[in-house]
Amino acid sequence: MASPGASGPKHIAIIMDGNGRWAKQRGLPRQLGHERGVEALRRTVEACRNLDLEHLTVFSFSSENWKRPAEEVSSLFALLRLYVRQDLNTLAKDGVRVRVLGSRHGLPDDILSLIEMAEEKTSHNTRFQLNIAFNYGARDEIVEAAKALANDVEAGRMNAADIDSDAFATRLWFSGVPDPDLLIRTSGEFRLSNFLLWQIAYSEMMFVDCLWPDFSETELIDAINAYKSRERRFGGLTVDGLQSE
Ligand code: IPE
Ligand code: IPE
Ligand code: MG
Repeated sequence: MASPGASGPKHIAIIMDGNGRWAKQRGLPRQLGHERGVEALRRTVEACRNLDLEHLTVFSFSSENWKRPAEEVSSLFALLRLYVRQDLNTLAKDGVRVRVLGSRHGLPDDILSLIEMAEEKTSHNTRFQLNIAFNYGARDEIVEAAKALANDVEAGRMNAADIDSDAFATRLWFSGVPDPDLLIRTSGEFRLSNFLLWQIAYSEMMFVDCLWPDFSETELIDAINAYKSRERRFGGLTVDGLQSE
């Protein structure tokens, strides 16, 4: 009998890191690294669809990335515009539902409209979901959920005693998205940088040296195979490869 770890992940989350270093190694401007990063994203979406995954979540702009020079921030926004304009029709046709998760605060109006349009156009798709974490910070997400709960209690819509994990999770930006089975960070950094702190409580983690623009189906399949060889216990015990109740 196959061990519980033998089935593949249904939801992979990726911290797409290393675009700047990829460009620097080649004496190119960082912007070019980001552009090649978009190509890696395209390849990865396609590979995940072919591998029958259900969700791919990518970290594309963090709440802390505002600290970068204004020029880089605008070029990252420009890339989101370009990606949505160039790929939305194909994504929609291929049955991909697109969601953009993060704070809407501080985003230019045209980006807000583009996000709304992308979500609306693909909202009926069910085959595969691409979650783009944009202007996303996990601590902000948790604080917003806490505020929403506090408002509900204050307004008498719920009792504080009824607050539990599910009540909390339904108020997160990622509400309705299953927790990732596997989290991958590229570029050899061993940190989470404020990504999905709530959702990855029991995700398997993989830190790979590959810089994001070099990421391809090969690295993805390697990560999936490594995932399959792991034993997920969720705090329980395993006996002869079988998960205990
Ligand atoms: C990831 O690449 C993309 C974003 C954070 C937006 P980086 O721009 O962080 O690349 P490095 O880490 O400087 O190499
Ligand atoms: C994390 O990468 C954010 C994204 C990939 C969008 P960073 O490059 O911003 O993270 P740090 O600064 O190295 O922690
Ligand atoms: Mg980085």
